[in-house]
Amino acid sequence: MIKIAKLISGSKISAQIKDEVKAQIEQMKKENDTVPGLAVILVGENPASRVYVANKEKGCAQVGINSETVRMEDTVSTDDILAEIDKLNNRDDIHGILVQLPLPQQVDTGRVLMAISPDKDVDGFHPVNMGKLVAQQDCLVPATPSGIIEMLKRENINLKGANATMVGHSEIVGKPCTLLLLNEWATVTVCHIETKDLKMHTKDADIIIVATGVPYLIKEDMVKEGAVIIDVGINRITKDKASPDLLEWRKEDFEKKGATLIGDVDFQRVEPKASHISPVPGGVGPMTIAMLLKNTLKAAKMAVEKK
Ligand code: GUN
Repeated sequence: MIKIAKLISGSKISAQIKDEVKAQIEQMKKENDTVPGLAVILVGENPASRVYVANKEKGCAQVGINSETVRMEDTVSTDDILAEIDKLNNRDDIHGILVQLPLPQQVDTGRVLMAISPDKDVDGFHPVNMGKLVAQQDCLVPATPSGIIEMLKRENINLKGANATMVGHSEIVGKPCTLLLLNEWATVTVCHIETKDLKMHTKDADIIIVATGVPYLIKEDMVKEGAVIIDVGINRITKDKASPDLLEWRKEDFEKKGATLIGDVDFQRVEPKASHISPVPGGVGPMTIAMLLKNTLKAAKMAVEKK
């Protein structure tokens, strides 16, 4: 009998979350005469960043958030960006500020992230929010990791006592996701580029979360029967780099666009072993946007309460 894992559809779950956010925003408009506002600073012409920002604008429009994008040349200085952030920090109609990463080399990303008011830091990257996450205090939590936890919870996957392996230790995904899993009482192992034997840490895990940007990193022999797999990777593979298998599986994408998007997991071979698996695209990606919108609503609620 061929087993098929349950697909965890981020597209479906994110649509539910957006509906919930939209309803709360309508209520907020009525009761508090406040419309949440999100400002995004986009520097340069990075194609991936432009796609993300366009998706954020679309998501805001869907739920009733006012969105504003500040576009800056890729020759900007740290001070130029700090001046924009200062203006946005002082505006009452802007509740969330997000600086799309990565920034050009000449810019000091740490200083930029530190300049965003922690109350408006809808990415949750400010050290104040990171520290609150460690201390388990209420705060704005990075969108991708909180989206991952939301997916697991809404699929009724047990986290308490589960062995979870986090592959990737970035500030954006791996580190905050590790803390969120710990806060749910999972036993967490964190792996990264210097990990000596990755398979040793994945093969017995109940839950594997992968955020590395390395296509095909997680192969079938690294995964136990019945594991839950969350794939955060987004890798664009062009036709000339694709394996015969991938060319066949994603035939339509290659014919239409000459490329396809895959995650960090060898999906076709790992999927039959997994109990649940998130696809790419349509898995974690849409969850990030939904959680960002939820964070913007939360920041607006905090501003209303402070008034
Ligand atoms: N670049 C890639 N992911 C993210 C994210 O979650 N937030 C921001 N600001 N930039 C990103």
